Amino acid sequence: MRSIVLANQKGGVGKTTTAIHLAHGFAIAGRRVLLMDLDPQGNATVAVQGMLPEDTPTDAPREWMIPVAERLWLLPSAGGEAVSSGEATIDTERLQAVVAELEGEIDVLIVDCPPRMDEWGWAGVQLCEEVIVPVQAEFFSMHGLSQMMASLEEAAQRYPGKGRLRGVLPTMVDAKEEVSGEILEDLRRNLKEVVLNTVIFRDSSLVEAASHGQSVFIHSPWSKGALCYTELVQEIIDG
Ligand SMILES: Nc1ncnc2c1ncn2[C@@H]1O[C@H](COP(=O)(O)OP(=O)(O)OP(=O)(O)O)[C@@H](O)[C@H]1O
Ligand SMILES: [Mg+2]
Repeated sequence: MRSIVLANQKGGVGKTTTAIHLAHGFAIAGRRVLLMDLDPQGNATVAVQGMLPEDTPTDAPREWMIPVAERLWLLPSAGGEAVSSGEATIDTERLQAVVAELEGEIDVLIVDCPPRMDEWGWAGVQLCEEVIVPVQAEFFSMHGLSQMMASLEEAAQRYPGKGRLRGVLPTMVDAKEEVSGEILEDLRRNLKEVVLNTVIFRDSSLVEAASHGQSVFIHSPWSKGALCYTELVQEIIDG
C-alpha cells in the first residue's frame, strides 16, 4: 500500500484540496483509495459529501469506510477518533494497526492533516511513507517552510520508513501575478529537485467544486484545476 500525507503547519495552503484530488485522481486511475481525514475541522469530510452518486457500489472493506466514489472511501474526521480511541484524542498505534489490516485491500492511503503539527499532524506523518508539503506561492508561506522541513527530517529519523519528503508542491500560483512567479523561481532555486514539477495554479473551479461537496474532476473536468491535479496524480504515480 502506498501512503501519502499532506502536511504543513501553515493554514490554508491547499492541503485538503490536494488530499481530495490526489485521492480521487488515484481512484480514477484504477487504484483503491482510502482518504483519511485527520483534521478535527473535518474539511475533507465535508468537501466530498456531494460525490456519492446513487448507483455507486457501497461495498467497502470495512464498515467504517464511507463510500464516496468508485474505488474511493473516506474515513471521516470523527471516524479517526472512533477508530483510534473513541475519544477526541488520537491513538496512533491503533490507527497504524487499522491501516496495516487494510494491506491488500487498499492500494493508496491519502491522509489530510490539520494546520498544526500537533498529535494529529504527527499521527499522519507516522502513518505514511511519503509526505507532500503544499506551499502557497505567497511571501508569508515561505516563512515556516524551513522549520517544517527540519521537523520532517527529524520525524523520518524517529519513525523509520515513514515521513520521507516526497516533494514540496507549489499551490495557488497566479500566472497573472509577477510575485507568484518570483516565489516559484525562489522555491526552485533554494530547494531544487525537492520541488515537484507540477504546479497547482489558482482556479476558482476548485473553490466552487468544494462548495458543492465534489471533486473538480466531477464538477469541472476541463478546468485548469482539474488539469493541474491530473498532472500531479501522474507525477506521483510515476514515482
Ligand atoms: N489552486 C487553488 N485555486 C483557488 N483556490 C484554492 C486552490 N487551492 C485551494 N483553494 C481554496 O483555498 C482555501 C484553502 O484551501 P484548503 O482548504 O485546501 O487548504 P488547507 O491547507 O487544507 O487549509 P487548513 O490549513 O485550514 O486545513 C479553500 O477555500 C480552497 O477551496
Ligand atoms: Mg485542510
